[in-house]
Amino acid sequence: MSVKDSLFVPVGEPIEKTSNRVTVVGTGAVGMATVVSLLMQGITNDVVLIDVMEDKLKGELMDLQHGALFLKNPKISASKDYADSAGSKVCIITAGARQQEGESRLDLVQRNTDILKHIVPPLVQYSPDTILMIVSNPCDILTYVAWKLSGLPVNRVFGSGTNLDTSRFRFLISQRLGCSSSSVHGWIIGEHGDTSVPVWSGVNVAGVRLKDIQPKMGTDDDPEGWKKLHADVINAAYEIIKLKGYTNWAIGLSAASLTNTILKNLHNVHAVSVLVQGHHGITEEVYLSLPAILGDTGVVSIVKQTLNPDEQASLQKSAKAMAAVQADLKL
Ligand code: LAC
Repeated sequence: MSVKDSLFVPVGEPIEKTSNRVTVVGTGAVGMATVVSLLMQGITNDVVLIDVMEDKLKGELMDLQHGALFLKNPKISASKDYADSAGSKVCIITAGARQQEGESRLDLVQRNTDILKHIVPPLVQYSPDTILMIVSNPCDILTYVAWKLSGLPVNRVFGSGTNLDTSRFRFLISQRLGCSSSSVHGWIIGEHGDTSVPVWSGVNVAGVRLKDIQPKMGTDDDPEGWKKLHADVINAAYEIIKLKGYTNWAIGLSAASLTNTILKNLHNVHAVSVLVQGHHGITEEVYLSLPAILGDTGVVSIVKQTLNPDEQASLQKSAKAMAAVQADLKL
C-alpha cells in the first residue's frame, strides 16, 4: 500500500469542480501579472495557463507551484492543449505582440487578430459557457474580433478597456488632492488608447463635483492645468515602455479585479470595453469602454452616463476611428 493509501481513508469520490476556473492565455509579463494578482488575492484557486511555448509554460508553472505554501492551496495547471482549460468560468486573453517603443496599440492590430484566430475558437469549444475577457492590444478592436470569432452572446465578451486608464486617472487626481484613489470618482471611457475620453463633468469627491468648483477644469484655459492629467494617462504606457520595456503590474491587477467582480457576482461598475452601438449616438458596430455592471453573466448592464456634448462628440469620433480600422481587417 502506498504512503497516501496508508495515511488516508477516502470517504467519497472527488468531484471535479470547475466553476471558479480561470484560464489565462499568454504567459508573458501581462499574463503572469494577472495570474499572480488572482492567486495572491485568493480570487480563484483554479488557474490554467495556456501558451504555445512549452518551456516557458513549464517554468512558470513550477515557479508558481513552489509558492503554494504561501498561497491558498490553488490548483494551477499549464498546457498547450485547450482541452485542459475545459469548463473555465472566465477566460482572459493576454497573448499577442506587444507595443515596442514608438508603436501605438493600433499598430498591432492585424498581427494580433491573426493570433486570436488560433485562440478563440478552441477556447470557446472547451468552455462554451465562459465569459471572455480580452486584454491584448488594441483592446477594443480585438474584443470586437474575439466576439465575432467566438459566436458568444454580447454580454459574455468584453475588453479590459479603460478600467486601467480610469485607475491611472483616479490615481493622478488623488495625488493632487491628497485623498485615496478609491475616494476620487472619475471615469475614462472610449478607446483604451490615444483617443480615450476623460469625463471631467462627473469627477467628484463625496459628490462634490470638481467642475462646480472650477468650471474650466479639463479645458485649455483651466488655470490649474488639470487637462494634463488626461495627457499623462494617455502617455502612461508609452512612458513605462520607454522606461522598463512593457507594462504589466497595473494591467494585471485591473484584469484580476474584473475577474473578482465576475466570479463573486459583485455587480461592481467598471469601465470595460462593450458593444457601444446605440449608446451615446454611436451607429458603428464597435467596442469601446463605458461604465458597466459586471456579474456572473458577464456584462449585466451599461450605465447611461450623463455626458456633455463635447464628451459625446469625442466618443463618437473614437467610434469612427475604430470602425475605420475594422474595415481594413482580415477576419
Ligand atoms: C497599458 C497597456 C496594457 O496601458 O495597454 O498599460
